[in-house]
Amino acid sequence: MARTPLIAGNWKMVLDHQSGTLLVQKLDWTLKDAKHDHDAVEVVVLPSHTSLRTVQTLIEGDKLDIKLGAQDVSAHESGAYTGEVSAAQLAKLGVGYVAIGHSERRQYHGETDELVKAKTAKALEHGLVPIVCVGEALDVRKAGEHVPFTVGQVTAALEGLSAAQVAGLVLAYEPVWAIGTGEVATPEDAQEVCAAIRAAVAGQFDAATAEAVRVLYGGSVKPASIASIMAQPDVDGALVGGASTDAADFAAIVRFR
Ligand code: G3P
Repeated sequence: MARTPLIAGNWKMVLDHQSGTLLVQKLDWTLKDAKHDHDAVEVVVLPSHTSLRTVQTLIEGDKLDIKLGAQDVSAHESGAYTGEVSAAQLAKLGVGYVAIGHSERRQYHGETDELVKAKTAKALEHGLVPIVCVGEALDVRKAGEHVPFTVGQVTAALEGLSAAQVAGLVLAYEPVWAIGTGEVATPEDAQEVCAAIRAAVAGQFDAATAEAVRVLYGGSVKPASIASIMAQPDVDGALVGGASTDAADFAAIVRFR
């Protein structure tokens, strides 16, 4: 079964609702000029929560093929959780995807595998597509433990889910040492871990689920590096940070073929 490539832009805490709107408009114009087939390569932008409504209004108002994602979600249904945003609130806004367990949240907010699992389940409960982020730090890579470490994160995040739920979500391998550093992983590095992630899903669930689930690579992806990464058989797309905040660069990454 062919998996539709997905290129997602994680704006992190960089763009506000005005600059974000401008970027989406430029991105849309650029892709339209190139006659981009959004069915062939899915495009998602992940704004800050403060921009979701504005970007959603633009996407829906102008009927853009660009999809909307959030950068995080609460594990709770609703209630006294100051500062958190619920899956129900995101779904009501028209958000389709949500990044969960990004290394920056694991690092700065102490997010554990257990919390990532709970957030993933809550997102699925409300019809959001989780983009579950995993990846090792440099010391783990240097110790040669990057595959078991990353596979352990995946297995923990997917525990308790059904095969059908897993088939429909997205996993993103983002080696921490490649994020924001300019040190993009080699295509072989990306393939090694993405293949190991897929094999782990096959073992935890079944071969069909492993074949269906999309596995992205993230970490210093640029227009110059996307084609060789996307040429890898187990890489189904990219989760792009810095380069996604520039319309031309992100469009070039989307147009990797
Ligand atoms: O979520 C994507 C992000 O972590 C990668 O950031 O700037 O290395 O592309 P960057």
